[in-house]
Amino acid sequence: MNETHFLHRRTRLLDIMDEGVAIITSAPPQTRSNDTEYSYRQNSDFYYLSGFNEDNSVLVLIKTPESTKTILFVEAYNAEHALWNGARLGVEGARERFSVDEVHATVEYAERIKEILREHIRLYIDLYSDSERLVEAKNAAQSLHSTRGIKRHIRSIRDVTYMIRTLRLIKSEDEIETIRHAISITAEAHHAAMRESRAGMKEYQLQAHMSYVFLNSGAMNEAYGAIVAGGNNANTLHYVDNRDELRDGDLVLIDAACEWELYASDITRTFPVNGKFSAVQREVYEKVLDVQLRVIDAIKPGVKRDWLQKYSEELLCDALIDLGILNGERGALMEAKEYKKYAPHGIGHWMGLDVHDPCPYVDESGESLVFVPGMVMTIEPGVYIRSDDESVDAKYRGIGIRIEDNILVTEEGHENLSSMIAKTIDEIEAVCRTE
Ligand code: GLY
Ligand code: MN
Ligand code: MN
Repeated sequence: MNETHFLHRRTRLLDIMDEGVAIITSAPPQTRSNDTEYSYRQNSDFYYLSGFNEDNSVLVLIKTPESTKTILFVEAYNAEHALWNGARLGVEGARERFSVDEVHATVEYAERIKEILREHIRLYIDLYSDSERLVEAKNAAQSLHSTRGIKRHIRSIRDVTYMIRTLRLIKSEDEIETIRHAISITAEAHHAAMRESRAGMKEYQLQAHMSYVFLNSGAMNEAYGAIVAGGNNANTLHYVDNRDELRDGDLVLIDAACEWELYASDITRTFPVNGKFSAVQREVYEKVLDVQLRVIDAIKPGVKRDWLQKYSEELLCDALIDLGILNGERGALMEAKEYKKYAPHGIGHWMGLDVHDPCPYVDESGESLVFVPGMVMTIEPGVYIRSDDESVDAKYRGIGIRIEDNILVTEEGHENLSSMIAKTIDEIEAVCRTE
């Protein structure tokens, strides 16, 4: 994506703002231990508007009845920093690269933001962030407020993230292409895991085959911590330990995916460690797959998101009744939410710059959003039967299955962006190696 895309997004935000000042800050670096840091991950809202990946930067958008102005604050070039950590873009570099009205060094921010705020009555920030630069802005507003003779002062502070995330909800062609690229690498990684799986391996060894594909393809970061869960470990929803042995006759659930240019993919496949589904595993797998296919099939513009959630719960409830895991009449089981014991999580979530894209699910009056073209979501039904669950036929115990794809809403209905990843029993068994 180039600067034109980011300029377009800033213009759209200015369009929907009332008169005032919006401040969006970069993410702070995170300490891992003592003086070492986690690999830097930019704040998605900041990146969405700037395309800039450096810390200690601030984007300021100003709107008056007559005009708009955009200002970017960046860390100045510093020879010492360049020696140890690499060169920053610097003020001059940023002036060349970005189509903003002004670029200044971040050291000037505190002084300049005070000058800017004295002309305005409305401030847009992330209300829930404790970013140092936002604290400085609020302090500046406060000191202006108590300055005698000042004509204007900040009288309302609004949440800018809701506005940005409303824009982020609908993906552009370029965003979709970026997500497609992430998924294409993730597809290769899942197929590598299926090919390499053997009884006796450790879960992390299977993960290593995926990590190799990610890095070898230039995807430097995973979109989230990989889950590689053999057998009963799949029933721990956020299992990330990945240290157990993979056992012959068990399934392995892998929920792992890479990020590309900060855009996520989010894929789960569940397959037999030894490459061959047992009759019982087949039975449960077919049910989960059937639910997933039906839910995906129902996605089209005009459908309400909360209807899809309810529909998926009904399908999962029916599947559990068919398997004999739940006993009774669907209405009563739904009412009592009995299915939640075996299918505890939602059907999916928005996906984009964050794996769980924090875009709204409801409109401002609290009504569920209706699907429109350009939305991207995961569809990930799962059935989880713990090994110690004595209320279920012993043959099902220890099985945990989730199947997750990434779906784009289109004019015609939807497109499964991850449809190239083996998913039917035949497709999976064809990729897995059996010896
Ligand atoms: N990988 C996280 C999720 O599926 O939501
Ligand atoms: Mn996932
Ligand atoms: Mn997901």
